[in-house]
Amino acid sequence: PIDERVEDLLQRMTLYEKIGQMTQLDITLINKTGNQRNVELVEEKAVELIRDHHIGSFLNGEAVAPDQWYEFMNRLTRIAVKESRLEIPIIYGIDHMHGASYLSGSTIFPHNINLGATFDESHSFETARITAIESADLGHHWTFAPVLDLGLNPYWPRFWETYGEDPHLASVMGAAYVRGYQNNEDIAPYRTAATSKHFLAYSNPASGWDRSPVQVSMQMIHEMHRPSFQAAINAGLKTVMLNSGEINGVPVHASKEIVTGLLREKMGFDGVVVTDWDDIGKLVDFHKVAEDYQEATYMAIEAGIDMNMTPTTLEFNKALLSLVKDGRISKKRINESVRRILKLKFDLGLFEHPYPRNDRMNRIGMESHRQKALRAAEESLVVLKNDGNVLPLKNPDNILLFGPCAKSKRNLAGGWTIGWQGGSEDQYPEGMNTLCDALQKKYPNASIHYADSIPVDGTPTEQKTFLESTSSADLLIYAAGEEPYTEFVGNVTDLRLPGRQLDEIALLNRSASPTVLIMIAGRPRIITDIIKETDAFIFAGLPGFEGADAIANLLSGTTVPSGKLPFSYPQHTGHFVNYHHKPSAVYFFNRDQANVIIQDSNATTSLFEFGDGLSYTTFEYDNLVLSATEITAGKVLTASVTITNTGDVTGKESVLWFISDLAGRITRPVKILKHFEKVELAPGEKATLTFEIQPEKILSYPDSKGIPILEPGRFTVNAGPLTETFILK
Ligand code: IFM
Repeated sequence: PIDERVEDLLQRMTLYEKIGQMTQLDITLINKTGNQRNVELVEEKAVELIRDHHIGSFLNGEAVAPDQWYEFMNRLTRIAVKESRLEIPIIYGIDHMHGASYLSGSTIFPHNINLGATFDESHSFETARITAIESADLGHHWTFAPVLDLGLNPYWPRFWETYGEDPHLASVMGAAYVRGYQNNEDIAPYRTAATSKHFLAYSNPASGWDRSPVQVSMQMIHEMHRPSFQAAINAGLKTVMLNSGEINGVPVHASKEIVTGLLREKMGFDGVVVTDWDDIGKLVDFHKVAEDYQEATYMAIEAGIDMNMTPTTLEFNKALLSLVKDGRISKKRINESVRRILKLKFDLGLFEHPYPRNDRMNRIGMESHRQKALRAAEESLVVLKNDGNVLPLKNPDNILLFGPCAKSKRNLAGGWTIGWQGGSEDQYPEGMNTLCDALQKKYPNASIHYADSIPVDGTPTEQKTFLESTSSADLLIYAAGEEPYTEFVGNVTDLRLPGRQLDEIALLNRSASPTVLIMIAGRPRIITDIIKETDAFIFAGLPGFEGADAIANLLSGTTVPSGKLPFSYPQHTGHFVNYHHKPSAVYFFNRDQANVIIQDSNATTSLFEFGDGLSYTTFEYDNLVLSATEITAGKVLTASVTITNTGDVTGKESVLWFISDLAGRITRPVKILKHFEKVELAPGEKATLTFEIQPEKILSYPDSKGIPILEPGRFTVNAGPLTETFILK
C-alpha cells in the first residue's frame, strides 16, 4: 500500500532530503544551452543538485524535438534514481497548456477561452487526454493546467487561459480536463497529474493588470471563484498552484486562511500545493509583507504550501533548514508536505516506471489527434454578426485578405505555445496553415490576395482608388487581433483593438464589397466604433494550430458554426459588466432637463452577450414545461424544452439553462448558468432536453462562510427565449 511505502521512506529521510523534495527548480539550471530552446543535460550540475541537495522536481522547457526531450529526461531520471541516496525519482512539471505545447510536432488545441465557447466538455477532455498521450512517455509527468480562474475582466492578460466568465462552465470544463489528463488508460504504464490554478480569485484585479491586488468578499469567493476548483478536486485533482497576487490585502502565498482553511479544510483538497514562480521571493520584494527570504519562507510554509517553485536558487532550502533547526517550523509540518509529495510520486507510478520511453513517439501530432484539435477549433468559433447572410461563401472568385493575423501562425496559437510568450514565427511547424494558406487550400480556384497596406493616411483620391480596387471582390476579410502574450507582458491600458486596426477596418467598411472581421485575440478587444458597418464578425479567440483551417471551413460552410460566447463582449473600453451581474449593476442614472432620474441601460450593456452565437441554420425553442410549479427541498423539479432545427442545414445548438432567484438576502445575480447541453439536429429534426432542478444543488447559494443558504421564494428558469416561473416553498 502506498501509505506504508510513503511512511517507510519518510522515516529514512534526513531533514535536508525532505526539503529537497519540497523544491522545484527551473530547467535552465541543468541545461547546457542556458536557455530552453535546446535541451541538453549538464550532468555534473544535475548530479550536484540531486545528490547533494536532493532536489525532487524540475520544471519548464520550450518546444524541442521529442528525441531531445527523451534523451534529456532519460539521463535526468538515471541521475535521480542512481545518485539520490534513497533512489527517489524526480517529478517533472511543465506548462503543456493546450496540447503538449512545449514539444515540437505535437497537436495544439485551441486555448481554454475557445474550449469554453464550444460548450461541449468533450473538447476539454480530449485536449487533456491527447496532451498526456503525446507527452507522458517523455517523462512529462505533470502539467500546470487547467487554469480555473474566471475570465471576468478582459483587461486581465490571462483572460484567454480561462474557460470564460461563468463558474459552472469552468467547473464542467475543468473537471473534464482533470479526468482526461489523469485517468488516461492510453498512457499506461504511466500516469500524469494535472494542476488547477491559480488558487484563488487571481483573475479579477481592480485594474485588470496581472498580479495586481484583488478585493473580493468571502461570499463572492465561495459563490464565484471556488466552484471550478471544487469541481476539479471532486474529479480527483492531484495538485493546485496558488495565485501570485494578493486577496483583500494578504498575498495568497502567505494566507493560511485561503490555503489551509479554505482549500484543505473546507474544500477537502489533500494533494500537493505548489507555489507559482518564485512566489516566496515575491513576498519580500513584490508584496513586501516579509523583510527577508527566511521570513517569507516561514509565512508560506505556515500558510500551507508543499512545494516551492523556487525556481533558480537554493535559498529556500537553506532558509527552511534553519527555520526547522531554530524550532520555528516543526518537523511534523515538513513531514505533512513531504508525505503528500511522495504520495503523488507513488500514485503516478514513478517508482515503478521512472524512465521515459521512445517507442510510441509516432503518436505525437498524429492525424487523429489533429482532427480532434480541428473539431474543437471549429466548434469554438463564434459568429456574432452575419448581415445579409454574407457567410457562408460557397464559390468565390476573388477574396481580399487584410490584417495582422492573416499571415501569422503564432497569433493563432497565443502564449504558452512553443515558448512562454508564444515563440517566434519561424519556430512554427511548416504543416501549419496561416489563414491565407488555409483559404487558398479551401478555394483552390479563387484568387486569394493578401494586401498588407490599407491607405488610412492616404489622400481622399488614394482612398477612393483603393476602395475601387476592392469593389469587385466577393469578400474582404480582415483578420484582426493581437500578438501572443501571457502574464504581465500582456497588460494593456486600452482595450480597443490595437494599432491602426480600427482605422483600417473603418476604411474597408466603405468598400462596395462585404467585409468580414475575424478577431484572433485572447480577449474581446473593443470594436464598437466600426462594427455597425461591418457585415460579418467572428470571434475566433486563439484557435490553435488547426485554427486557420477551422476558420476556412466555417467561412465556406464546410462546417456550420456552433460556438457561443463564454463571456460578455464589452461595448466600451473601461466598462464591462459580466452577464451574471447583480441587479443594480446595469443602471446608469441620468437626469433629464426636468431633473427627473431616468435609467439608461444602453450606456452599460455589452456589445454581445454571454451565450450569443449565430449558426447557418435556425433553431426554434418551444414548450418549456415544468413538472410542477412548486418545489420543496429534497425534491426534484424537471424542466424540459423542445428545440427544432428550422433551417436548411444540419447544425449544433448549445442549450443553456439559466436560473434567476427573484429575491435573495444577499443580492443575487440577475441570472446564472446551471446546466448546458449541446445537440446536433438535421433540418426539421427536434429534440426535447431536460434539466433537473434539485433545490440544494441548483437554487442555494453560499454565505460568507461558504455555508449554503436555501431561501424559499420565486425563481425563473430560462432556456433560449423562453422563461417559466416556479416557487420554492
Ligand atoms: O505555470 C506557470 C504559471 O501559470 C505562471 N507562472 C509560471 C508558472 C510556471 O511556468
